[in-house]
Amino acid sequence: MTSTSMVTGALGFIGSRLTAQLLEDGYDVIGVDCVTDAYDASEKFMRLDTLRVNPHYRHAGVDLADAPLDELLSGVDVVYHLAGRAGVRDSFGSAAKYRHDNIQATESLLQSARRAPTVRRIVYASSSSVYGNAKLPFNEEGPTIPLSPYGQSKLDAERLCLEMDGDGMTTTALRYFTVYGPGQRPDMGLRLFAEAAILRRPLKLFGDGTQSRDFTYVDDIVTATRLAADCSASGVAINVGGGSRITLWEVFEILAELTGERLAIEHEPFARGDAKHTGALLDRAETLLGFTAKVDFVEGYTAQVRWLQSLLRDARRTA
Ligand SMILES: NC(=O)c1ccc[n+]([C@@H]2O[C@H](COP(=O)([O-])OP(=O)(O)OC[C@H]3O[C@@H](n4cnc5c(N)ncnc54)[C@H](O)[C@@H]3O)[C@@H](O)[C@H]2O)c1
Repeated sequence: MTSTSMVTGALGFIGSRLTAQLLEDGYDVIGVDCVTDAYDASEKFMRLDTLRVNPHYRHAGVDLADAPLDELLSGVDVVYHLAGRAGVRDSFGSAAKYRHDNIQATESLLQSARRAPTVRRIVYASSSSVYGNAKLPFNEEGPTIPLSPYGQSKLDAERLCLEMDGDGMTTTALRYFTVYGPGQRPDMGLRLFAEAAILRRPLKLFGDGTQSRDFTYVDDIVTATRLAADCSASGVAINVGGGSRITLWEVFEILAELTGERLAIEHEPFARGDAKHTGALLDRAETLLGFTAKVDFVEGYTAQVRWLQSLLRDARRTA
């Protein structure tokens, strides 16, 4: 008998990539995604068209916070809980939406999963935003000081998941560090920078460009997420990072080279809620998951920029 996984947020950037991989490896997948208004829905519907081609994919277009989930969870072995409202800056002024999609949705999913006799593991997509400006490298045992309603909502949901560990259902929270690669969300920096460069428009730089990020390629994130389904440790948070830090100025140099364009930069004040630097301590990921990132930044960003160039070419052709 094939094993059935549930992926929440299956039409999202990371969830769709995870779902595609599970299907490729012969799993039955129930994808839950209500297509929120967080960004252009057409990208999500394109992903749905691709996933639906596989007869082992079943889609449930329901909101996790309000829909009955017991029937959907029947026969499910592992729940990969990636549904959520992402984005730091947008969360100021929209805290209620973030609470709904990140906390209430998680609470409701956990209650139903607890009742489902077959669910043995929940893997939760948490975030490096829970750390704020903590001391580098960010350590799972160190303080969490979120700087935004988004970061706070991810921390609250993570706690709900970890509290639920035990009694036949185990839980793990993965703290993803800025995920990038083909399919990246349209509101994320690396995509906005690349789009501006390709379209020869000025790109907006918030802050002085010396801020740095531990960027993690989407396929590495998917690998770690799948490893978490079967690792022996549970009830813990685990960092998942790319293994190195890079400043925005370094990103711009690489981007100029990849696109052959001279970048025009518009300076904006440092954005509220953004951490100055992020960097993951990866000891837990290595020992508990057996995970190390494989894709370095230049290789990964090249793949993302080539994907975006082709997406924009197709959009021009159909316009
Ligand atoms: N992308 C990153 O860099 C990053 C970093 C850290 C953590 N994360 C977390 O990883 C997860 C996936 O991120 P992503 O970048 O793929 O985001 P995404 O917005 O592309 O995907 C999230 C999906 O969840 C769905 N969703 C949201 N609320 C829902 C609800 N109440 N019911 C059903 N579906 C709902 C959305 O429609 C969307 O398709 C999120 O939980 C995010 O917080 C992402």
